[in-house]
Amino acid sequence: MKNIVILISGAGSNMAAIVRAASNDRWEVRFGARVAAVISNKADAPGLLFAREQGIAAMVVDHKAFSSREDFDAALAAAIDRHHPALVVLAGFMRILTPAFVSRYEGRLLNIHPSLLPAYPGLHTYQRALDEGCWFAGATVHRVTADLDHGPILAQAVVPVLPGDTSQTLATRVLTQEHRLYPAAIARLLGESS
Ligand code: GAR
Repeated sequence: MKNIVILISGAGSNMAAIVRAASNDRWEVRFGARVAAVISNKADAPGLLFAREQGIAAMVVDHKAFSSREDFDAALAAAIDRHHPALVVLAGFMRILTPAFVSRYEGRLLNIHPSLLPAYPGLHTYQRALDEGCWFAGATVHRVTADLDHGPILAQAVVPVLPGDTSQTLATRVLTQEHRLYPAAIARLLGESS
């Protein structure tokens, strides 16, 4: 079985979209893959509830309990490795990871970022796109490298920027596409390796 471990920090709507796709599109039968665990760095992340309701192992590794990034990443890796993951999927996981963590999961670590990378790595992607007068915005699924919000691009979705958009309306339009994009990119990877 190919285990997928998903890391979240908040709402977890991308995680929920992946869990639903895994079930609706029968990833277990088609790819021998399943979402084995959801791990959050925040105890109050709403996504944890959804995961538990789905019968998925859900746990917290609170970054505030560790005095260094290295210690947190080591505890996080220990929690992840219990599930022997084929893929580690960052889905709104808002922590910068150490190079040691990234290299441990090399080739197995994916992220989704709410911009058309390489434009707008980092935070406030919607507002920055609006401020620059972009006509298009979007989301990118990429492999994770030690460079924040860089790495080989696996899939992108483009949305128009519309008159009167705020960062909130643009975020909502992009997020809707993320929910389609991320499961599709993961399914494609699983298909290639099965
Ligand atoms: C998503 O828009 C995701 O692209 C973004 O956080 C949101 C999480 O939403 N990720 C990043 O900004 C990472 N740099 P969700 O918790 O509802 O999936």
